[in-house]
Amino acid sequence: MTLAVCPGSFDPIHNGHVEIITRATKIFSEGVIVAVAHNPQKKFSIPLQERVELVSEVFSWLDGVTVEPLETGLLAEFARSRGAAAILKGLRDEKDFLYEAPMATMNRNLAGVETVFLAGDPKHGHLSSSLIREVASLGGDVDDYLPRAVQRHLAQHPLARA
Ligand code: PNS
Repeated sequence: MTLAVCPGSFDPIHNGHVEIITRATKIFSEGVIVAVAHNPQKKFSIPLQERVELVSEVFSWLDGVTVEPLETGLLAEFARSRGAAAILKGLRDEKDFLYEAPMATMNRNLAGVETVFLAGDPKHGHLSSSLIREVASLGGDVDDYLPRAVQRHLAQHPLARA
């Protein structure tokens, strides 16, 4: 396989994301573009530019990963414009699949881009950025679930209380 786009909010990126993207670099010979999404209808805890910088720092050691903001427009168009063969998504469970499957069909219909799902390692199955934000904002220790760059960022920029 060739190039994949892995989209997400990454607010913040956590070890479950890192595991999926790292594994994907062994499958996609031209690498993975991590597309960090902005959505004007959504309130993010970490601004877009900082999320892009954090994801870039997290993968600075790994050839084959590039990071771009996905600011406006359709993911399917973004993927097509980059020549990506696939959109990459990680699945934690069947609920993720039920949520993702309609978007996979829509993205294929929109731009002929396939979606490839990787099953996440069960050790990360309880992780989501929203749960991490909630626990962190209430003073809980979430370091075990986060790459070092994100640990440092949250230590310097604590999340507002949920
Ligand atoms: O990490 P998230 O918040 O679950 O990621 C959601 C994301 C960015 C994958 C989704 O919102 C998305 O695909 N946004 C791009 C806009 C788009 O193409 N929407 C139609 C999807 S079929």
